[in-house]
Parts: sequence; structure tokens; C-alpha cells
Amino acid sequence: MCQYKRKDPTIGKAEIRFWYHFIKLTKHRLSHRRGFVKIALSGSSGKMGQLITKVANELGHEIVSKINRSTVEYDFRKTKPDICMDFSVPIATIKLCTAAAASKVPVLIGTTGLTNEDLHKIGGFAKVIPILASPNFSVGIHVLRKLVGEATKMLPKDFDIEIVEKHHTHKKDAPSGTALSILSDIKNIRKDSTGVFGHYGKSAHVPGSIGMHALRGGDVIGEHDVYFFGLGERLEIAHRVTNREIFARGALFIAEKFYRVNVPKLYDLEEIL
Ligand SMILES: NC(=O)c1ccc[n+]([C@@H]2O[C@H](COP(=O)([O-])OP(=O)(O)OC[C@H]3O[C@@H](n4cnc5c(N)ncnc54)[C@H](OP(=O)(O)O)[C@@H]3O)[C@@H](O)[C@H]2O)c1
Repeated sequence: MCQYKRKDPTIGKAEIRFWYHFIKLTKHRLSHRRGFVKIALSGSSGKMGQLITKVANELGHEIVSKINRSTVEYDFRKTKPDICMDFSVPIATIKLCTAAAASKVPVLIGTTGLTNEDLHKIGGFAKVIPILASPNFSVGIHVLRKLVGEATKMLPKDFDIEIVEKHHTHKKDAPSGTALSILSDIKNIRKDSTGVFGHYGKSAHVPGSIGMHALRGGDVIGEHDVYFFGLGERLEIAHRVTNREIFARGALFIAEKFYRVNVPKLYDLEEIL
């Protein structure tokens, strides 16, 4: 027979409060140990948004806020996301950053076609919250950029460089954000070079110019080719995406690391990998 007799059988308010907070804290600790991430997803109804939702569910993460064109108010006080992910359009990216900065939630931006003005605004938000923007979350492109950098350093300056990208017919921006980042990598090495969009009306490759060409059609997910043309030889570095899901997996891989970052700054993918 049990000898223990409780003095007061009723549970006091303080006790309820204690157990409520104890369970909440334990759940929070356990979920974060598992790498479970609460995500506010901007562009959730789009091609990328749907894939991120699918992969996030598979990985045990939770989309706590779904943001689309019809969303008029971004309020993270109730949903309390660990991170905001953005695969939408530039105007929505800025709205999301405004709300995220107000709630001090880090933002991972995948949206492309951001103007210099957008980037300037994003730089301002990055003084308040950590922000990471990458036009391409595939591992292969990361390696392509490294190889292009190496080739640019190793090959003589008289090798002409041309970048060709191909995307589906609905892509809103051209040239692609990835092509622009490849151009920027090359320009960091060949300081005196400039990007030239097409060679219309010009008879020859102007020395120091880097040709950029965007092809649009059908359901091409994303292809990038970088050519180094010499006299009598040519080096080609190419990347093909055959399944859009790799972007979603790559973005979630980064999100799982990035949501823990708490120093406000504009981050490069390299810093988080
Ligand atoms: N970084 C990467 O690795 C990577 C990879 C692939 C694509 N992307 C980029 O991700 C972006 C989205 O691509 P996607 O193929 O998913 O495009 P999509 O299928 O056209 O989807 C666009 C999404 O943005 C939403 N949206 C449009 N206008 C909006 C507004 N004014 N306010 C709020 N939400 C708005 C749409 O909502 P509604 O349904 O309500 O219109 C939809 O959910 C593009 O910039 C693309 O280039 C990046």
C-alpha cells in the first residue's frame, strides 16, 4: 500500500505554469536537437515552394507560414519561425525581409532577378538580421564556379570567355542570377573585363568583354556553359540540372545550418557550407 499522501491534492496555478513551461522547453530542446526547423516560406505555391514543402516534410521540418501573392500581412508573432525562406519575386523578397527584420528572424533568399536597389535594401536589413542570398543552391554549380575561377586564373588572357545559360520559357529574369554570379567571379580575377549581353551588331569579340547569352524555352530547368576560346583549342565547363528538387534539397541543407546563425550580416553560401 502506498504510504505517500499528498498534502494538498489540488494542482495550483504555479504548478501548472511550471509544468507548461517545462514541457514547452523540453519539446523545444528535443526538436532543435533533431534539427527540426520551423520555416516561413515565401512563394510556397510556386514550383520551388511546392518542392521545398515536400522535401521539408520528408526531413521532418515544419512550414509554419505560407506566403504568396494573396498574403497581405506577414505576422510572425504567432507562427514564430526559426527561418524565412524566399523563392518568389523580388517585390515579395523585400516585403519578407521587412517583416523578418521586425521579428528578428534570419532570411535565406533564393529569388533571382534582384536589382541593385533591391540588393541595397537587403544590405540594410542585413544590419538587423542574418541574410543569405544565393541564386543557385545546387552543389554542382558551386563546383562549376570554383573550376571557372581556376580556369580563368590558369588560361592566358587572350582566351575569350563566353557564358551561355538556358532556362524554361517562364523564367522571369535574364541573364540568370547564376550566370551573373559566374560573371562576377570572372571579373574578380580579370579585373578589367566587362560583361556584354549578346554581340548584336558587333563583328568581333571585343577584347576584355565576356559574352553573356540567355536562351529561353520549353521546360529546361537550368543549364550553364562557360567557354574559354583559344586559338586552336577550347575549354568548356558545363552544368545541367535534370531535377529541380536538388535546389530544394540544397536550400534546406543550408537552412538547417543557417537558422542557428545570429550575427546580423549578409552571408555568402561559402561561409555556411
Ligand atoms: N536559388 C535557387 O537555387 C533557385 C532555384 C530555382 C528557382 N529559383 C528562383 O526562385 C524564384 C521562384 O521560382 P519558381 O520557379 O518557384 O517560380 P513560380 O513557380 O513562378 O512561383 C513564384 C511564387 O512567388 C509568388 N509570388 C508572385 N508574386 C508575388 C507577390 N507579389 N507577393 C508574394 N508572392 C508572390 C507566387 O505566388 P502566387 O501563386 O500567389 O502567384 C508563387 O508562389 C525565381 O526567382 C527563381 O529564379 C532559385
